[in-house]
Amino acid sequence: MSELIKVVLSEEELPRQWYNLVADLPHPVPPPVDMQGQPIGPDALAPVFPMNLIEQEVSTARWIDIPEEVLGILKIWRPTPLYRARRLEEYLGTPAKIFFKHEGVSPPGSHKPNTAVPQAYFNKVFGIKRLTTETGAGQWGSALAFACNLIGIECKVFMVRISFDQKPFRKMMMQAWGANCVASPSTETKVGRSILDDDPNTPGSLGIAISEAIEQAVQDDQTRYSLGSVLNHVMLHQTIIGLETKKQMALIGMKPDVVIGCAGGGSNFAGISFPFLCDKIAGSTDVRVIATEPESCPTLTRAPYAYDSGDVAMMTPLLPMYTLGHTFVPPPIHAGGLRYHGMAPLVSQVLREGLIEAVAIHQLECYEAAIAFAHTEGFLSAPETAHAIAQTIREAKRAKEEGKERVILMNWSGHGLMDLTGYQAYFEGKLHDYSLPDEHLERFLASLKGLPKPPELGG
Ligand SMILES: Cc1ncc(COP(=O)(O)O)c(C=O)c1O
Repeated sequence: MSELIKVVLSEEELPRQWYNLVADLPHPVPPPVDMQGQPIGPDALAPVFPMNLIEQEVSTARWIDIPEEVLGILKIWRPTPLYRARRLEEYLGTPAKIFFKHEGVSPPGSHKPNTAVPQAYFNKVFGIKRLTTETGAGQWGSALAFACNLIGIECKVFMVRISFDQKPFRKMMMQAWGANCVASPSTETKVGRSILDDDPNTPGSLGIAISEAIEQAVQDDQTRYSLGSVLNHVMLHQTIIGLETKKQMALIGMKPDVVIGCAGGGSNFAGISFPFLCDKIAGSTDVRVIATEPESCPTLTRAPYAYDSGDVAMMTPLLPMYTLGHTFVPPPIHAGGLRYHGMAPLVSQVLREGLIEAVAIHQLECYEAAIAFAHTEGFLSAPETAHAIAQTIREAKRAKEEGKERVILMNWSGHGLMDLTGYQAYFEGKLHDYSLPDEHLERFLASLKGLPKPPELGG
């Protein structure tokens, strides 16, 4: 092959439909339920989400059209390039061919706007004037701020206190796109005030910020809530990543043997992998699909599959997922987007089905991998993305040991230009590896006691 570095599609080749894995799953995902274990109907979600997105959430259609107005905005940065990481291959001396899908080219710098834009659009079409949301390190908040700005609705972001104080740049990006960003817990909500009463110096958590954002959304008929991961419609919107990649790989006559993505709530992993899992379920490929997560938040590798709430105040319905428990307090690792307690029900289901593998990795190995990637490929990765790079390097080294050619595809979910304090801590030797101790895990899992249990697979 000639010195191919990147595969670029034209605007005309942008996928016109999203792929819904629900249509092809071997067994259905158990439904969301209430505290009594009764399935929640679409109407119960209406105060939180607009009905057009709820319809996508429960849809079993295989393909769902992407509206023209959404395509018009996605075209600002999509289709995104697929790169061959030749210099990384050379550095590793591996016979593997490494490809990465570059989702860092969006204006906010990650894959998150792939769902922020359609969510803002469907809310606007439904007559909603304002969206509320939460954000940890700020990738999602800035993506929704950007999307709401271009679509023309208001955006309110509850940003976890510790990030609000330590990472001011994402907050400024949100302000630049016209959003109102406040530190969470705030005095604006009942939930926030009660947590502040108990502990005025709390660093906050994603679970608290979600509770605040939902509380504000349900109080006003023209406001709804928006979530950047976990839910079915978010996974759906992200499949544009894998659909483009399939076209790009077909153009150069390649098929991946291994597909890798990091998983926080599961959305960029679902985005790159679900279109390939479609072929695996159909039996036309035996591609290995690997989700990576931090050793300190081992949702897929050590947590049970259970019904759990998405937030601390238990305002969301109970979702069937691998979960560390909704009271989980994340350790202070630098991959802010990988610190959530639960995993998308759809990603949880494909793990249960044995269609994917999950691996937990320590943060020092991830930073080392991100630096090797920056030295060879040039791009500086988000700490979340570094978890995918670390596994890619492991697979490339294994190919070398086994003397086997192998095509490895990784989702490069975002750049790290707003995450430099993490790199600073790494360079100064201040970062440490941390495994979640068993006794801490047990304590968080106690919050699942008394909740309904999901049925066995196929039950
Ligand atoms: C760059 C990047 N990658 C990955 C993630 C993890 O989220 P998800 O699992 O939904 O893709 C985040 C979350 O903020 C992120 O910002």
